[in-house]
Amino acid sequence: MAGILQRYKAVYGLPDDYPIVSLNEGNTPLIPCEHISAHIEKTTGVTGLKIFAKYDGANPTGSFKDRGMTYAVSQAKHDGASHIVCASTGNTSAAAAAYGARCGMQVLVLIPKGKVALGKLSQAMMYGATIVEIDGNFDEALAVVRKLGNTGKITVVNSINPYRILGQQSAAFEICDELKTSPDYHFIPVGNAGNITAYWAGYNRYQQLGTIKNLPKMMGYEAEGSAAIVRGEVIAEPETFATAIRIGNPASWQQAEAARDESDGTIDSVTDDEIGQAYTRLAATEGIFCEPASAASVAGLIKACQNKQVNNNSLITCTLTGNGLKDPDSAIRLSDEQGIAKKLSLPANEQAIMDAIGL
Ligand code: F0G
Repeated sequence: MAGILQRYKAVYGLPDDYPIVSLNEGNTPLIPCEHISAHIEKTTGVTGLKIFAKYDGANPTGSFKDRGMTYAVSQAKHDGASHIVCASTGNTSAAAAAYGARCGMQVLVLIPKGKVALGKLSQAMMYGATIVEIDGNFDEALAVVRKLGNTGKITVVNSINPYRILGQQSAAFEICDELKTSPDYHFIPVGNAGNITAYWAGYNRYQQLGTIKNLPKMMGYEAEGSAAIVRGEVIAEPETFATAIRIGNPASWQQAEAARDESDGTIDSVTDDEIGQAYTRLAATEGIFCEPASAASVAGLIKACQNKQVNNNSLITCTLTGNGLKDPDSAIRLSDEQGIAKKLSLPANEQAIMDAIGL
């Protein structure tokens, strides 16, 4: 299927000669999660939830960033840019590098040294970006990127670029198109806070167009060690094993608070342990392998149900922002630590294997 700019050309009001740079992103699966629903019913008493995971790890570079990047890079091309730049915890850099490569632009990425998951780093390298590993965190990298942008010689493709947010609205469009209504609650991880901003704008746009009647409550979740919005203060040294959302000064802070307040939703935090439990539960019971930061949405849903913030029989969507293969180190570590993986060392002998698995 065509990418999001082609598919939603009318919604975006794009002219026919707009130079679309696309990898046929979007159109990602909306997967029912009956096992998570049953787990919630059993452990919290909240019943009858219809839960869907919007699995944006199925995008061409493995994360939701492709939705915004197709628009930001197309616009950069439209404007005659030769260079693009971003700060990133990994996924934005992978997407920028891919879309930049596709249209022959020079791509510069600034990443926090030692804090980018292996898969993401390999992507930026393969797509041929120039990679600057800084001795600092994402927030420090973004501050430098803003200054690089101010030179007027290089286009910033972080979510402070409004085309990124516009493109990312398409996930909300797809959800409503498929469900033929809006969800009651939308759960989403929060890092730099661009995506929660985009979803809220997307749902509002669809309401203005008359495609949906009601708006969901926006339920955003930061990692506890990086929960700047929840704590109401910049966190100089954010921490979490979910490195994608290891951010202490979100660029779209105010927009995220507006989405929370206007939708009567919440922005809360989940611990690394809660994220890790949701991460392995999604894989081992639903067959959905997302990256750790993505699981903050489902960890948030479970927490909200424990706190009785969710009504019985609600229609729920959870964004799973990135593909589990991005971060093989976390996958191997947590599946091992939590006893999810059953690794046996046995002789190459069928009887020994049958005996070991009790058949
Ligand atoms: N999930 C994943 C997998 C991410 O990569 C990010 C952000 C988020 C959630 C949070 O989204 O920033 O819009 O609130 N990653 C950025 C990056 C920061 O550089 O790849 P957000």
